[in-house]
Amino acid sequence: IHNLGEENSVLNQFILEIRDSQIQKDAMRFRRNIERIGEILCYEFSKELTYSPQNVETPLGNKAMSLSHDQVVICSILRAGLPLHQGLLNYLDAAENGFISAFRKHEGDDDDFEVIVDYFAAPSLEGKVLVLTDPMLATGRTLENVLLALKKSHGTPSAIHIISVIGSQQGISFIENIFPENTHLWIAAVDPELNSRGYIIPGIGDAGDLAYG
Ligand code: PRP
Repeated sequence: IHNLGEENSVLNQFILEIRDSQIQKDAMRFRRNIERIGEILCYEFSKELTYSPQNVETPLGNKAMSLSHDQVVICSILRAGLPLHQGLLNYLDAAENGFISAFRKHEGDDDDFEVIVDYFAAPSLEGKVLVLTDPMLATGRTLENVLLALKKSHGTPSAIHIISVIGSQQGISFIENIFPENTHLWIAAVDPELNSRGYIIPGIGDAGDLAYG
């Protein structure tokens, strides 16, 4: 787990703005902040890709550089994953893309819920670097169901990077136990608690509603 919120950086400003109950009401700023966090997490996770030497010719000479040619597939969990997805795509020009639907289905007023994954459109993931984006990691049950759906089809990725904005300690421990060893989690903030309805406390509220109404 790479918790980027543990270091002081400009990321703190974006996290404060998505948490603040007044500032977060501006949906356009909320989406843009999630996107900016996606850009920062993308830069950090890109350091884990594989790089090979590449020469570049400038108008005045040659320079040896190292570039990554890893095939990356960014898969987002709807809805709230979309602005985060855009942040990654802003930097990963050649990435392929996938979209997954997941929602919590409550029976009446019951606190208990089921996570339903019923739409999964993605290119083959065989041997590629899979980046799963979802801004919230609360119970971890969405990611668990996405992993199950992944295993049924789409092939085996060479590595998995989960990119998230805010997580609960409990959800992170749950994920650590079920995802394969070559999985990395990149997250901007970790909060201590979950309430009885599975919301992160203090958290930010419901990211899907804040971004899209
Ligand atoms: C939220 C969030 C995650 C999920 C996290 O989605 O965007 O996908 O809950 O919770 P979990 O770790 O307990 O599974 P939500 O169901 O609110 O859907 P939405 O993004 O479409 O609003």
